[in-house]
Amino acid sequence: MEVNTFKGCIFDLDGVIVDTAHFHYLAWKKLANQLGFDFNESQNEALKGVSRKESLEYLLQLGGRQFSEEEKMTLAARKNDHYVEMISNLDESALLPGAKKLLLELKSAGYKIALGSASKNARPVLESTGILPLFDFIADGNSTSKSKPDPEVFLIAATGIQLLPSECIVLEDAQKGIEAAIKGGFLSLGVGEKNALEQADHVVSSLENVDLKTLQHLYNFPITSTIS
Ligand code: BG6
Ligand code: MG
Repeated sequence: MEVNTFKGCIFDLDGVIVDTAHFHYLAWKKLANQLGFDFNESQNEALKGVSRKESLEYLLQLGGRQFSEEEKMTLAARKNDHYVEMISNLDESALLPGAKKLLLELKSAGYKIALGSASKNARPVLESTGILPLFDFIADGNSTSKSKPDPEVFLIAATGIQLLPSECIVLEDAQKGIEAAIKGGFLSLGVGEKNALEQADHVVSSLENVDLKTLQHLYNFPITSTIS
């Protein structure tokens, strides 16, 4: 994709900035086990980036279980209780390697930073890990009606930081998140395993060695700061 300017980044949360993706998995597994079936990590790949409601539908389909809408609301709330309990002691140590350093570097160079997460727990997670003030705008599960791979959350985020999709890099650990970024016309950086994220423009195994220079180099942006 031809891009003239790079002005901001939209970060997914779970699995990109904070080590919480595993807790989502464990909470779904606990619910599945309570319902009498098992759920493994490879099945969980399809749930990454997906809203709580849609994840539950997928899980129940896997387990071959059917419930009324009211029961499903109770089950989704139960999964969330498991998840919230698992992250109750979250602090800065849950930040994934390199994430805070990159956020700080982007911020001080004048780049806009938004969150584009499916999670309704995004704000408390950013608060408890101490990085909420680094964000110019939060788009999360409370601001969206469509789950990734729909690009809605990233489009809301881009509007929130007053940038065009082509001016933003979306950083994502979920295949459905990369799909959403592509559909929305964003640049994409996959964070995780290359074979799970092969549609992304570029993939890194973690943010540990990613800095502004790396981004400018990967996407052929001119080496400049946005601060004039
Ligand atoms: C995404 C996670 O960030 O948020 C999914 O990748 C999760 O695993 C989704 O289901 C919704 O999260 P929550 O906190 O609203 O249940
Ligand atoms: Mg994620």
